[in-house]
Amino acid sequence: MSDIDRDLPLLDDVATARDAGLARILTAASVDEVAAIDADLLGKKGSLALLKTRLGTLSTVDEKKAAGQALNAATQSVTEALATRRIDLARAERAVQLEQERLDLTEELTQPRRGHSHLVTQAWQRLEDVFIGLGFQVAEGPEVETDFYNFEALNMPRSHPARSGFDTLFTDYSGPLAEDGTVLLRTHTSPVQIRVMQTIEPPIYMVMPGRVFRRDTPDATHMPVFHQIEGLVIDRGITMAHLAGTIDAFTKAFFGGAFTSRLRPNYFPFTEPSAEFDIQRPDGSWIELGGCGMVHPNVLRAGGLDPEEWSGFAFGFGIDRMARERHGIDDIRDMYSNDIRFIEQF
Ligand code: PHE
Repeated sequence: MSDIDRDLPLLDDVATARDAGLARILTAASVDEVAAIDADLLGKKGSLALLKTRLGTLSTVDEKKAAGQALNAATQSVTEALATRRIDLARAERAVQLEQERLDLTEELTQPRRGHSHLVTQAWQRLEDVFIGLGFQVAEGPEVETDFYNFEALNMPRSHPARSGFDTLFTDYSGPLAEDGTVLLRTHTSPVQIRVMQTIEPPIYMVMPGRVFRRDTPDATHMPVFHQIEGLVIDRGITMAHLAGTIDAFTKAFFGGAFTSRLRPNYFPFTEPSAEFDIQRPDGSWIELGGCGMVHPNVLRAGGLDPEEWSGFAFGFGIDRMARERHGIDDIRDMYSNDIRFIEQF
């Protein structure tokens, strides 16, 4: 160090400003922060520019030369440090962005995985298979129904108390196709009985699976949307014995020969007499399955059939419940959670 260097406070200030600048550059966290530091150090009113204005206050040429050189060197090292830091940070920011926006399109192509039907679909299809094996045909009806098909034709006129048992979801349909307030989401598959009777000539041996809706809060055993399968047999001389025999044949075909069934008296407006049917497991325990009975004469009439000529039975039960029974699922909501870890097990 020369005498001049030692005696000049400006040189110290340049070194201090340079070191402080370099330290800030090294810890800058973003490209934007580097730009701000650049302005602070090298801008028109930046710290190095301010030091430059003090060159004029120096008295000798040597002093000016030494201070000028120190300023130039400081400006150069700061400029280089800024450029390096800017490149490093830009590269890091780009890498983060690329990772975030990464779309891996190769995964499924190299390892395609085979899916399978939902467990309710599986139960639905098995039920159809079993009934087809017993000589039934399969039909489906609309999910949005009218009051007439869902209630009226099923022997539940306007003020019938049984209506309140079907927590019904009404649509706000208003138009030429139906009276206001009479268009609803079907609460059971029984309306399809009427549609089938109206369209095909007996003898009828038909099952009608489908989605049904009730105004219910989901819990372990209920969902507001679930599935039923309806059965309808119309022929000459059909009796309750045919109903009991059909339920038992179905039970053994679906669950296996070690299962049996029973009927318990019950009430439905659309069947008379009516019964509840239960299935007994080989261990002796019972599963409540659904409702059934002999088709009520009023229902036959609503379907356009003469009760003096035709008789028949009907039954209906929950498909979701069948799937739950078969797989020992505790909470029915799990079946609709779309959690692949659950669904994959079946
Ligand atoms: N529809 C009835 C229900 O949802 C079940 C049923 C169908 C009962 C056919 C008798 C005959 O509860």
